[in-house]
Amino acid sequence: MANEVIKAIQTRRAVFQASFTQEEVSKEDILTILEAANAAPTHKRTQPWRFVIYRQEGLQRLGAELSRIYKTVTPAEKYLEKTELSMGEKATLSNVAIALVVNYTGELPEWEELAATSCAIENMWLAAHSLGLGGYWASPGLINHLGGFLNLEENQKCIGLFYLGHHQSEVREPVRTPIADKIRWEE
Ligand SMILES: Cc1cc2nc3c(=O)[nH]c(=O)nc-3n(C[C@H](O)[C@H](O)[C@H](O)COP(=O)(O)O)c2cc1C
Repeated sequence: MANEVIKAIQTRRAVFQASFTQEEVSKEDILTILEAANAAPTHKRTQPWRFVIYRQEGLQRLGAELSRIYKTVTPAEKYLEKTELSMGEKATLSNVAIALVVNYTGELPEWEELAATSCAIENMWLAAHSLGLGGYWASPGLINHLGGFLNLEENQKCIGLFYLGHHQSEVREPVRTPIADKIRWEE
């Protein structure tokens, strides 16, 4: 029988804005989630993950910036007003948005810093799930233009936004092909 950790890993799902409720996510829960992220493995202990947490008015500012970037960078023939609106709503319909940032130290190959930050994000996702919260890692192309807004340093890169909230989503089976197709035993 699966233990609690295995069960949490197997039942974690991406939960989207359509399922989020208005209920406030407490600062205490956010800190628990961020402490879980901070417990991720890290080569040479560079701890390359950085997070910027948007709540309340901060979400309005983030949403406005995402809409502004969409409008600025999208070629006129591809621009859709509804996409401009929905970019902003991704933030304003969430209770919390966490900008996911890698801090490249130069001490390690960049892929190792990215890998460690990804481990931190999975920890975060599992911790949120264990607290009854839902969310997902969003990686729209617009994040490549968020550096100024996030006040990032030269060696830092935003790799996504983690949208978070209390939710009412149905339990979903994971969509995966069998692990047997992805492994090879050498015995
Ligand atoms: C690196 C990464 C980037 C992702 N970017 C997006 C995204 O931009 N938009 C989105 O809807 N989901 C995104 N997701 C979430 C995936 O869509 C989701 O994890 C996948 O559908 C599997 O569903 P599950 O997590 O519920 O098993 C991303 C996930 C990862 C790991």
